[in-house]
Amino acid sequence: MMKEYEEININGIKIKSFESVVSTNDIALEESAEHLLTIVAERQTKGRGRMGRKFFSEEGGLYMSVIAIPEKTKLPFNLITPAAACAVYDALEKIGVCDIKIKWVNDILKNGKKVCGILTQAKSFGKGIEKIVIGIGINLKEPKGGFDESIKQKAAAIEFEGNRLDLAAEISKNIGKKLLLSEQEILAEYEKRLAYIGEERTFCDYANGMQQISGTVVGVNEEGFLKIRSSEGERILSSGEMI
Ligand code: BTN
Repeated sequence: MMKEYEEININGIKIKSFESVVSTNDIALEESAEHLLTIVAERQTKGRGRMGRKFFSEEGGLYMSVIAIPEKTKLPFNLITPAAACAVYDALEKIGVCDIKIKWVNDILKNGKKVCGILTQAKSFGKGIEKIVIGIGINLKEPKGGFDESIKQKAAAIEFEGNRLDLAAEISKNIGKKLLLSEQEILAEYEKRLAYIGEERTFCDYANGMQQISGTVVGVNEEGFLKIRSSEGERILSSGEMI
């Protein structure tokens, strides 16, 4: 049978590079538990986003999933997505992408528009976690026919001309480093890059019956949850998003 992927190693990061897959997260969840093994695809037929949403994955994007082994990270599960967001942020900054911010909890914005989403999943083993899969989708270029109508207003591309596998390897290498930081270090990095600090915004609180809360964005607490100052005092959002 023909091998359906190319395997390459860039700066110590092993990458399995596919043309088209259903979802790189699915492949990574089935792979052996190898720390920082990275699955990359040029397109996905069923890319997944948060809350069971579809993640548009046409050619022109970087779709990748990085495997992380719990024993090789100092961070609890709830800080893995913030750590991955910082890792992507650093890689984008290094290639000269400017005006980027992290939108709590898992998006990266350029000039206020989404250029990257992150979906972290875990594979259980008995009562513990066997491996963590960090799925990252970056709009490198606008798709040929433009972004889908449903995301057109909010999405943008970073207009990347370089080698996508080099970028993937840089992100995976950064993830490896971030996972070895302390909780305080990652929270400080994350908060420094957070969008809307000091601004009045409205959020949907998933943990409280999808209630809407408006208030000033203050930062994140020690668990990576969002702190908002509302007319009723400080509110903490453990799960939710800006609307
Ligand atoms: C979101 O914006 O809600 C998260 C999007 C995560 C998309 C990436 S693309 C690579 C990996 N495979 C998937 O099916 N999803 C993640």
